[in-house]
Amino acid sequence: MVMDRVEGPRIRTKIFQIEDMLDETLFGHIEKLRLGVYSVKEFQVALAKFCRTQADRPEFAALGDQTSIENQSHWLLKRHVDDCRYSALFYHVGENEAHPPHHHHNVISTQILIRGKLHLREYDRMERRVDGKLVLKLVSEQMLSPGDIFQASEWSRNVHWFCAVDGPAVIFNINARGFEEQTFDSAEGAFGRCYIDPTHFDEDGLIRTEEFDADQAHELFQGRTLNEFPIPDTVTLQASNS
Ligand SMILES: [Fe+2]
Repeated sequence: MVMDRVEGPRIRTKIFQIEDMLDETLFGHIEKLRLGVYSVKEFQVALAKFCRTQADRPEFAALGDQTSIENQSHWLLKRHVDDCRYSALFYHVGENEAHPPHHHHNVISTQILIRGKLHLREYDRMERRVDGKLVLKLVSEQMLSPGDIFQASEWSRNVHWFCAVDGPAVIFNINARGFEEQTFDSAEGAFGRCYIDPTHFDEDGLIRTEEFDADQAHELFQGRTLNEFPIPDTVTLQASNS
């Protein structure tokens, strides 16, 4: 008798510099998300715990130090699973280097600060207006220390802006792209960053902004700390839907 064979997903691994145990554990979480066993929120909780556990390990911290010394990204993993993909890397952020404000399409990211100090602002996307502008609300402003985590997903804290202050920083980042079924923009959008300017607030404390390319974002925000763009006293942080 011929048995039906259940086909597994098509897996293509582009970068593999990760310990086998870590790879297996992370893949387990990724598959639970992909197969719907985890909600996005449950996945984020699991990944936050995963990152905290790793950050406590001396071997892992040593990789962070290596990233800091080499002053560049240190990739652990890059893999496609059918149409979804995920990656894990350490990256270095120089003192006063900004990651200019941007939103993401269909990306669930978990980032843990390994070294340094990071000034972070996070926003929710409220609406895409008919004129194409995005409406955002500021949901958090924080100064992060090593061990602190920040997470973005399609429907919560999708937009962020951060800058290393008082010295360089090292961040460990796990990105999962293409896993969310409902997306804010059309499903065909590219996974890359879309840069925005969240520094102008209307009378309701909301932000309306156009999108622009990396060159313009660099011109507006690179080398400038978030403190150079103070939040007006009239703006109150609005609770995220996370
Ligand atoms: Fe981002």
